[in-house]
Amino acid sequence: MPILETQNLSYVYGENTPFRVQALKDVNISIEKGELVGVIGHTGSGKSTLMQHLDGLVKPTSGKVLLEGEDINASKAATRAARFKVGLCFQYPEYQLFESTVYRDIAFGPHNMGLSMEEVDERVRRAADYLEIRDAWMEKSPFDLSGGEKRRVAIAGVLAMEPEILILDEPTAGLDPRGRAQIASLIEKYRVSTGSTVMIVSHSMDDIAESATRVIVMDNGTVALSGTVDEVFREVQTLAQHGLDVPQITRVFLDLRARGVQVRTDIYTEKQARRELVGLLRKEGVLQ
Ligand SMILES: Nc1ncnc2c1ncn2[C@@H]1O[C@H](COP(=O)(O)OP(=O)(O)OP(=O)(O)O)[C@@H](O)[C@H]1O
Ligand SMILES: [Mg+2]
Repeated sequence: MPILETQNLSYVYGENTPFRVQALKDVNISIEKGELVGVIGHTGSGKSTLMQHLDGLVKPTSGKVLLEGEDINASKAATRAARFKVGLCFQYPEYQLFESTVYRDIAFGPHNMGLSMEEVDERVRRAADYLEIRDAWMEKSPFDLSGGEKRRVAIAGVLAMEPEILILDEPTAGLDPRGRAQIASLIEKYRVSTGSTVMIVSHSMDDIAESATRVIVMDNGTVALSGTVDEVFREVQTLAQHGLDVPQITRVFLDLRARGVQVRTDIYTEKQARRELVGLLRKEGVLQ
């Protein structure tokens, strides 16, 4: 059974107003336990709206969200349970930091779950550890931290709830390349060591190709394409129709091929690229 599933999920903003927007149309997705699902799609395609349905924050206009087979909107108790099992980290989560210290901000979620002080404290420390948040920051105001540091505190606040499914909406948006790489690797470390199911919305095809086990492509409120990294990034033309590109490294191999170099074009990560190039150089006698 999938851990999380949507059935014909549709959502309309501003129904019965001149500003009516159908943000989701009959979306059917199915996520298995332990997967790392990358969600891509150009701006306005419905990614954030979809993510906000998965923890019960937004109620479907029609259709269902099933968590471990149960409709999360069936009752108030079911919605509340989903809010704890599914941890949603918003786009630009640092705007939601509001407590006087970093510690209090990370503790906010687990505190609301009604856990004991000791349990809250353990969870705060564990989450801070995953995000490499130093002890020295704990009593600082979150507003005294840099952009990347604030982002890590905000993500730690969600991790501290120890959700079974972690959903991150553009966790690296607006950060410099170093900050982006750091957050991506901390999330991967967390996922590998806890075995959690993770969904990441990203504009970076490169990040998705490096880490995802499966990719969902959204366009205009629908799922345009879904499959493994290979299955999705092989569809160069289809992606282009949805306003998306393949990873940069794939583009390089497509260009090489177009210039007559006999390389594979199903190359999506740096590791695959290195292997392919070394093979090619050996064949040409450039490398032993
Ligand atoms: N609060 C809102 N009120 C009205 N319309 C909204 C609201 N939020 C989003 N929309 C509209 O719903 C559609 C889907 O928006 P959504 O934010 O889910 O897209 P997205 O894929 O997350 O985009 P981005 O990549 O820019 O974050 C868009 O047409 C958007 O303008
Ligand atoms: Mg969004």
